[in-house]
Amino acid sequence: MPLRLALAALLLTLAACGEDRTADADPARAGGGAARETLILPPEGTPAHEGRLNFGQCAVCHTYREGQDHRIGPNLYAVYGAQAAQGEGFAYSSALRRSGLVWTEDAIDAYLADPQAYVPGNRMAYLGEDDPAVRATIIAYLKWLKTAGE
Ligand code: HEC
Repeated sequence: MPLRLALAALLLTLAACGEDRTADADPARAGGGAARETLILPPEGTPAHEGRLNFGQCAVCHTYREGQDHRIGPNLYAVYGAQAAQGEGFAYSSALRRSGLVWTEDAIDAYLADPQAYVPGNRMAYLGEDDPAVRATIIAYLKWLKTAGE
């Protein structure tokens, strides 16, 4: 009997891990990890909330919760207001490391509009977001993560 219980507990733990992984693999998707997602959603009706919805295109490459592993790109939890290329354990391009940038609103805006033009030779394989209104919401979300996140 105790063995059975232990097994059940183990299975539950594994299932929980699996769930976590799946949610992380596609954080923007509806369903599945919805309960967890609501925990980290900015208040509805705010630009940051809108930005979370627009962040789906970034989440393919970037995690955004504190302590999460880097993906193709570095974790962005604390990137707002930070010096560029400081994510521990991420192999940044020398272009970004030498940029001397600080991620202010203006800098993030220019980078997201056209990454290659703003930091030539950087490795973010993202063509850019043309719509300044969309960029503004994404920046609001990054700011929210830094200042009011989990
Ligand atoms: C195809 C993958 C990919 C996508 C999509 C992508 N990024 Fe990136 N991003 C990267 C990589 C890779 C880097 C590191 C670039 C380097 O080292 O030159 C990066 C770097 C960054 C940085 C600088 C991080 C630091 O620590 O200095 C920010 C900010 C950023 N991305 C924001 C975004 C946002 C916001 C979006 C969505 C609008 C986005 N990225 C979409 C791959 C991606």
